[in-house]
Amino acid sequence: MDDAPTLPSFAAIVVAAGKGLRAGQPLPKQFAMWRGKPVLRHSVETLLDAGARPLVIAVPPDGEQAVLDALAGLEGFALVPGGTTRQQSVKKALAAVESAERILIHDAARPDLPLPVIERLLAALEHHPGAIPVLPVIDSLSVENDGVMSGTAPREQLRRVQTPQAFRFDAIFRAHQAWEDEDSAGDDAQVLRANGGIVAHVQGDERLAKLTFAEDFMIQQPSIRIGMGFD
Ligand code: CTP
Ligand code: MG
Repeated sequence: MDDAPTLPSFAAIVVAAGKGLRAGQPLPKQFAMWRGKPVLRHSVETLLDAGARPLVIAVPPDGEQAVLDALAGLEGFALVPGGTTRQQSVKKALAAVESAERILIHDAARPDLPLPVIERLLAALEHHPGAIPVLPVIDSLSVENDGVMSGTAPREQLRRVQTPQAFRFDAIFRAHQAWEDEDSAGDDAQVLRANGGIVAHVQGDERLAKLTFAEDFMIQQPSIRIGMGFD
């Protein structure tokens, strides 16, 4: 694209090997239709257009044909079998990326991926080995015990963490190799941080919300926000 910003070179992983149990769709949610296209196709197109090379997709066991159907007509991606947890899927995909300086690791379940987030993440990698998009917590927080409020938690320092998460490749590769418990990490930023890497925060975007529950598939139109520029 002529008007594409000049981005530093980067590789990408899209993890699409989950079962999507909470979404209750007839197919795993990454293959369900959302705004006219399979969920997975949205972010893969964005990443390919942004120049991600290589782009490795972790796919479910027996899910290769579903991925190829969802991505029909696109070129420039490779598939690897995922694992039984997200962390295992990431680790396998990292092993398949032969070499890269920078890498974005993204959930297929977050189809709407704004380019400015990619720009902010890659810019932050100039100064830190990791960078993640975050948003503030707006609601007040209640600590629940036996169904009732048993306390509160200060929200000022808390942030909601999204993907894509960006890393210097060698740093995240080493961190995943060193991570002992493949099942317990919530995301890759935690893996990097546990290995001593500093993870920068950049501004996230509400559009990156993860499709998780059946109701997330009921609203298929972008919300109309009058007078709000959000980039
Ligand atoms: N994922 C993966 N491999 C796994 C589990 C999850 O690649 N073994 C991916 C999912 O495909 C998704 C992302 O990780 O793109 C975030 O996970 P989540 O939203 O929890 O998706 P699922 O695990 O598929 O959904 P659920 O937990 O409801 O079953
Ligand atoms: Mg899951």
